[in-house]
Amino acid sequence: DGLRLWGGRFAHGPAEALERLSASVHFDWRLAPYDIAGSRAHARVLRRAGLLTEEELERMLAGLDRLAADVADGTFTGTLADEDVHTALERGLLERLGPELGGKLRAGRSRNDQVATLFRMYLRDHARLLGGLIADLQEALIALADAHPDVAMPGRTHFQHAQPVLFAHHVLAHVQALSRDAERLRQWDARTAVSPYGSGALAGSSLGLDPEAVARDLGFGGGSAANSIDGTASRDFAAEFAFVTAMIGVDLSRIAEEVIVWNTKEFSFVTLHDAFSTGSSIMPQKKNPDIAELARGKSGRLIGNLTGLLATLKALPLAYNRDLQEDKEPVFDSCDQLEVLLPAFTGMLATLTVHGERMAELAPAGFSLATDIAEWLVKRGVPFRDAHEIAGECVKVCESEGIELDRLTDEQFAKISPHLTPGVREVLTVRGSLAARDARGGTAPAAVAVQLGEAKADLARQ
Ligand code: ARG
Repeated sequence: DGLRLWGGRFAHGPAEALERLSASVHFDWRLAPYDIAGSRAHARVLRRAGLLTEEELERMLAGLDRLAADVADGTFTGTLADEDVHTALERGLLERLGPELGGKLRAGRSRNDQVATLFRMYLRDHARLLGGLIADLQEALIALADAHPDVAMPGRTHFQHAQPVLFAHHVLAHVQALSRDAERLRQWDARTAVSPYGSGALAGSSLGLDPEAVARDLGFGGGSAANSIDGTASRDFAAEFAFVTAMIGVDLSRIAEEVIVWNTKEFSFVTLHDAFSTGSSIMPQKKNPDIAELARGKSGRLIGNLTGLLATLKALPLAYNRDLQEDKEPVFDSCDQLEVLLPAFTGMLATLTVHGERMAELAPAGFSLATDIAEWLVKRGVPFRDAHEIAGECVKVCESEGIELDRLTDEQFAKISPHLTPGVREVLTVRGSLAARDARGGTAPAAVAVQLGEAKADLARQ
């Protein structure tokens, strides 16, 4: 059965309870293709250092190819007795090449520098995958904005009606957040493109191996670790990845919450496509926004993965400690969760029906044009302090009469303030209110069109 990499100085084999505790092969097996890629690169530097003959290198690489094929088709898998993926693959190589040659590969490397390198490789691939999935979501949101360029909706602060905004403007706010998340992934990747291979257990190798060659071989554009202790002991790359994925989860949860609210009978702003909603086992009429709810729920899990990992790292002395074996599951889980969530979430938004008339009807409600009255007065020389008071008086009158601001008569306006001439009506429309906010970043249709164009260009560059 299993192989052990460290029998020499022990009089007894490990207790079964220890083996069960120690095993990570059931979750680190996903690193197998990266481990084999690392082994190929390591074999090449062993050759360059004169520790393998050309013939040995060739047989070694052929053996690794066979092992990779057997791993890929499931013919070879690790067992719990192998402890971890590195041990299992060494067993696989020994089985294929015999102990004479197979036993040479481990020279000058440790599972400590191996696992630190493979974990980076795995996460770098998944950062790219997640970047693509985020781009798909951005595309769906941009299409949603593009399809409804003039729909007004109630903009909210404190979840109360605040000022009218364009639906497209609101949707593009989420696109902005996602584009920063995508940028975070790219910046994280650039920082993580440093290979710890060659750091050995912690102190480097005495065998004349070239860590820079391994780094190049494995696609690490930033070269090899400048410090072997840091190379094997640091996991801030994993914590930062967990943060970025948690942030993505939080950004999705904020969209999700709005979809859930918009989809209620009371709001009736949107309708979810049947293919992206679920029913109830007892209530025949139900159509539930489960995807949005799962997004909201999973964001908690992603935050937990981040905080759990940070707690593992806190106060760990240098260099490698076995505690670090706890680093992988939370981060793998963050990848897994987002990789199933994002396609469903994107599908939900790509198929959303938007009820523009309903949104537009509510856009001016709740006195959301009161700021426009105040700003109209300011343009006529009234100090904002007074203008705010006067507009507030208008709201008070409306509230007591149960009407909206545009229903006030000329006489009522004049009674509130002589500054309120009938001309004020020009800003008491949603159209006028929106169009007036035409500076960069504002909600005027012209400004939002500019923003939409920039968002499309940004996505094309991503
Ligand atoms: N499975 C271990 C981990 O994930 C690999 C490194 C083990 N190193 C050691 N010296 N026991 O961290």
